[in-house]
Formats: sequence, structure tokens, C-alpha cells
Amino acid sequence: MNIQWYPGHMTKAKRAMQEDIKLIDLIIELVDARAPLSSRNPDIDDLGRGKARMVLLNKADLASEAGNAAWTRYFEAKGFQVMKIDARQKASLKQIHSVIQEACKEKIERDRRRGILNRPVRAMVAGIPNVGKSTFINSFAGKAAAKTGNKPGVTKGNQWIRLNKQVELLDTPGILWPKFEDQSVGLKLAFLGSINDEILNKDELAAELCAFLLKAYPGLLAERYGIPEDRSPHELLEQIAIARSCLLKGGGYDVPRAARLLLEDFRSGKLGRITLEFPE
Ligand code: G4P
Repeated sequence: MNIQWYPGHMTKAKRAMQEDIKLIDLIIELVDARAPLSSRNPDIDDLGRGKARMVLLNKADLASEAGNAAWTRYFEAKGFQVMKIDARQKASLKQIHSVIQEACKEKIERDRRRGILNRPVRAMVAGIPNVGKSTFINSFAGKAAAKTGNKPGVTKGNQWIRLNKQVELLDTPGILWPKFEDQSVGLKLAFLGSINDEILNKDELAAELCAFLLKAYPGLLAERYGIPEDRSPHELLEQIAIARSCLLKGGGYDVPRAARLLLEDFRSGKLGRITLEFPE
């Protein structure tokens, strides 16, 4: 399966990030907990040089506990402050202010030595499309705050959301572009639904997902759909169509519908909590 991205988007996104990064102290980087490496653009390490850094493993509710723990250790070992969150749930963000202070410890100390007291940390949220940036900003800053830019008379451009005395957040997230180092990265992003589905062959994609699940989570498809697993990925899709009565009007089984069903079940967590990749 050949998955493409558009270079035009990348150049524009990169330029916008470079400009915004000049304004901030802290980058709050969101990745998808189900595939934290595939859903992160490592160029951010260069772009964000000299800035305090935090990694949020978002959608942790959809990833396996073992995966979340392994990735937390992985990013902590790189020197980042890490939190696993479900951006839709405010309760999962409870610790965030203390983690921000920890991430910005050096900056706060530097300020103190220069006699600057209580200058708020300026932060921006960044990540590739669909990792949950807007959801996070809404939960973290509150709906009213996130809407500031839409009010009539408010000038466009950078708006700051004052969260409290210690933190100000740029209201627009930094959009990073996915980095397709190899096809397997593209494939994982496609499983997650982070690539425009229109350009993908869903039957192929669902068959690839079947192949992955058979290998990494044996027994899962059998349990969810009550089907035998000793089949090829394409035959498995047919089995799902049979099990779920995906029927064509003129007779026969609607395999494309079964493919969409499988992808939807995976993306919504109905197949269970699944991590697509683990640190080496
Ligand atoms: P973005 O700004 O980075 O592009 O992402 P956005 O916030 O739009 O979130 C993309 C999708 O991911 C949304 O679903 C959102 O609800 C979902 N999402 C965000 N954070 C989490 C999380 O921690 N856990 C889970 N399970 N889902 C999360 P959607 O289907 O596109 O929209 P909607 O159904 O919420 O309207």
C-alpha cells in the first residue's frame, strides 16, 4: 500500500511552527499513545531546541496499559516530562500544572536569578493532525478561552489564553506534519485514522490491520467477532462480513462494509486497548 503526504503542507506548517516557537518557553507535545513514534515528528527536537519540553501520551484510554508504561519510561529516559492523558477528560489533566512547573524548572530558576519573579510560562501545544490538540486545549483552557479568537473585533494572529498566574497558552496549536520514514509508519497512521481516508483503499487497510492483529494480538478477532483466525487477512474480512451480516442487495457479502466496521471498531476502542508499536 502506498501512502502519500503533501509537501506543500509541510513547508507551510514548518514555517508557522518556527515563528510561534520564538514566542514560547514550553512545548506541550501531543502524541497518540497507540503509536507514539509514528505519530510524532522528530524534527520538533530541532525546532524546539532550548525550550522546555513535555510529552503528552494522548488517547491513553485507547492504548494498552503495558504500552503506556513502556512509552512513559521511553520519553522520560529522553529527559521529557511525560503524562498519559485522555484529553476529553478534564480529570486526567489534574497533575498537569505541577508537571509544567517541573518541565520549566530551569527557566523559572534562571528568571529568579535575574530578579524576574512570577513571569508566567508561555506554552504552546503541538502535534500532528488528529492527535487531539484542539480537544486538549478545550479541556485544559476551557471552552470560553478557546473561543477568544472567534469573537468579533478580536484581531487575528497570536492570542494568549491566561490559564493562571503561572501559565499562558498560545490559543492556536502548532501543527506538525507526520514523518513517513517508512511505509509501516504511514500504515499505523492510517489505522489510527490520522491520514485522509479518502485517498486510501479501505479494504487493503483493513486487511493490513487484520494481519497486524493476528500477529500482535492473537485471539482478539476471534473473541470480538466469533470467527476462526486460521485464515488469510482477506478471508478474515469476509468472515467478519458473514459474522456481522454485512449483506449485499443482490446476494453475497459486503466485504467493504466489514472493512469499514473493523477500522471503526479499532479506532473507537471497541476492539479493546491496542498499542500498535513498542519502544525497541
Ligand atoms: P487535532 O486538533 O490534533 O487535529 O485533534 P482533535 O482535537 O480534533 O481530536 C481528534 C479526534 O480525537 C476527535 O474525535 C477527538 O474527540 C478525539 N480525541 C481527542 N483526544 C482523545 C482522547 O484522549 N481519547 C479518545 N478516545 N479520543 C480523543 P473525532 O471523532 O474526530 O470527533 P468527535 O467524535 O469527538 O466529534
